Amino acid sequence: MSDDKLYIVLMGLPARGKSTLAVRLREAFHKDSIHTRIFNNGNLRRIYRPIKETSCAEFYSPNNPAAVALREKFACMNMERAKAYLRNSGQVAILDATNAGRRRREMIEEYLDDHPLFFIECVNDDDDIVPLSILEKTKLPEFAQLDSKTAEAEFLKRINYYKMIYVSLKVERNYVRLDSLQNNIIEEKHTDSIPLYARLRDYLVTDEVKNLFLIRHAQTAYNMEDRIGGDSGLTSKGREQAEALGQFFVKKKIAYIFTSSKLRTKRTAEAIAEKQDDCRIIALKEFDEINAGVCEGMTYAEIEKKMPHVFREREAHKYAYVYPEGESYATMKSRIEAGIKKSFFLNRRAENIMIVGHQAVNRLILSHFLYRRDVDVPYIYIPQDRFYHIVSTQNKKLFELKRYD
Ligand code: F6P
Repeated sequence: MSDDKLYIVLMGLPARGKSTLAVRLREAFHKDSIHTRIFNNGNLRRIYRPIKETSCAEFYSPNNPAAVALREKFACMNMERAKAYLRNSGQVAILDATNAGRRRREMIEEYLDDHPLFFIECVNDDDDIVPLSILEKTKLPEFAQLDSKTAEAEFLKRINYYKMIYVSLKVERNYVRLDSLQNNIIEEKHTDSIPLYARLRDYLVTDEVKNLFLIRHAQTAYNMEDRIGGDSGLTSKGREQAEALGQFFVKKKIAYIFTSSKLRTKRTAEAIAEKQDDCRIIALKEFDEINAGVCEGMTYAEIEKKMPHVFREREAHKYAYVYPEGESYATMKSRIEAGIKKSFFLNRRAENIMIVGHQAVNRLILSHFLYRRDVDVPYIYIPQDRFYHIVSTQNKKLFELKRYD
């Protein structure tokens, strides 16, 4: 068996991030001049069968022998193509399909026997993200002739059909079970020596971001009075800032803007989205500002006067200090990380990602990409008249504080 070529076989239920992972891996290998091609069964299905047939859940039923045979035929076509590719100049062939049952995987193991096989199972059962991810799927051209409710119902039914035959990776010789939301490896097994394994593993666990535009919401009445927390809207200056942001980003394609659940971030995002062709705002509670507990709505001067112990303690240990009945930077960290993972998963196909957050939130998001000692995080500069542009890939790191007016 030659050991410099590799088949990567993806597996997982629909809407779990397989195709995005395939594209990410191909891009990463291309950067290292490794010839890589994706063989996607869905693409063949869409080319050779009418959309009316393949958007319908019955096409995926394990009890529909005609459809099972057709899907098997497309899987075989891709296996043949992948084999031919590696026989020629190809180095890595990525087979992208659900490959949910052992029967299909046995077929793959039997036919693709000339180079090592490496399976990757994409697992994601997050209750917020999976439904949003399904919603995105139903907007694909494949569902264009169905109304959104029917499309969603058909897609859910399709997933349930796959669940009927789903068997997690276990007996395969080489595999990784990946939490595709967290980019964490849940389980791994190696029997053969896998070419490119070190590179591959590193790609799987890296949070890559091509362009993150990290914006702090525009000015609010509370900001003017130096009050913390609350849920105030924008001032007239704030509205002008939000419009200037919209104008600044007019030529960039922003598919999603992630905000907190607070009015000030949503209003800022709306002014930006208004100038885009097709942009959705998704509010995540994970990006809510630090909860100041009993101090919510107070000014810093009031806290110093009425609760001097709170003021002093926080000054002394700002990162770790937990507001009475509220939060600290340290306790917020895990929900901010969860927000980053969720937004990146949903935005995974796009070049640009935008988050409109708050002062403490943006400090923690920045520190996820840019190393800072914990004690320095609560002092990162987060102005309202500028935004951070962040690029963080294996080959490039960029942090730029830019004006938008
Ligand atoms: O002042 C605006 C604000 O977003 C408050 O709502 C929040 O409590 C504060 O910034 C966080 O910044 P710091 O940790 O510096 O008090």
